[in-house]
Amino acid sequence: MSSVLTVYYSRKGENYFGGSIRSIAKGNTERVAEYIQKAVGGDLFELETVREYAKDYHECTEEAMAEKKSNARPALKKLPESIDQYDTVFLGYPNWWGTAPMAVFTFLDAFDFTGKTIVPFCTNEGSGMGTSEKDIRKECPGANVASGLSIRGSDAERSETKTAAWAARNVK
Ligand SMILES: Cc1cc2nc3c(=O)[nH]c(=O)nc-3n(C[C@H](O)[C@H](O)[C@H](O)COP(=O)(O)O)c2cc1C
Repeated sequence: MSSVLTVYYSRKGENYFGGSIRSIAKGNTERVAEYIQKAVGGDLFELETVREYAKDYHECTEEAMAEKKSNARPALKKLPESIDQYDTVFLGYPNWWGTAPMAVFTFLDAFDFTGKTIVPFCTNEGSGMGTSEKDIRKECPGANVASGLSIRGSDAERSETKTAAWAARNVK
């Protein structure tokens, strides 16, 4: 059984790319997550919300802002059965309004991460990790939260070499 889990939230469809809106079939974070799993092995798990966000980019940013303001915990379609077997959890997400989407916190609330290492990675259009590392530490006080990898969303496709090297350094 593998001791590494790569879990991520990623939104396909309309997204913002360095000044223009484009529609993408595979989310930026999803791409990076796949590079990590390819590099270090282990299991890959996608977090999906029960209620889909608006296809329209601007509408989605408004929904996300409302969820952030109310500190919501949007329901997820499914969760891993258990995380007991994993020592290292790579946790990926887009930067939404300066931190991870609230759905990521739904996942964090569902398990006890005491003694585990959480290794965050975040795609974004310039805000980097934002406050997400601090917010994850607060949500999972018993976990060791490594410093994260920030990738510009529009560079995600070209990030395999960098991502794989970083991932390898973060597995015990
Ligand atoms: C709701 C929403 C809020 C966003 N907020 C930010 C932000 O505050 N800072 C930033 O740099 N990028 C922001 N972005 C851009 C995304 O972080 C970026 O496009 C990311 O690569 C999307 O990843 P995904 O395709 O895996 O969902 C936002 C995008 C969305 C949809």
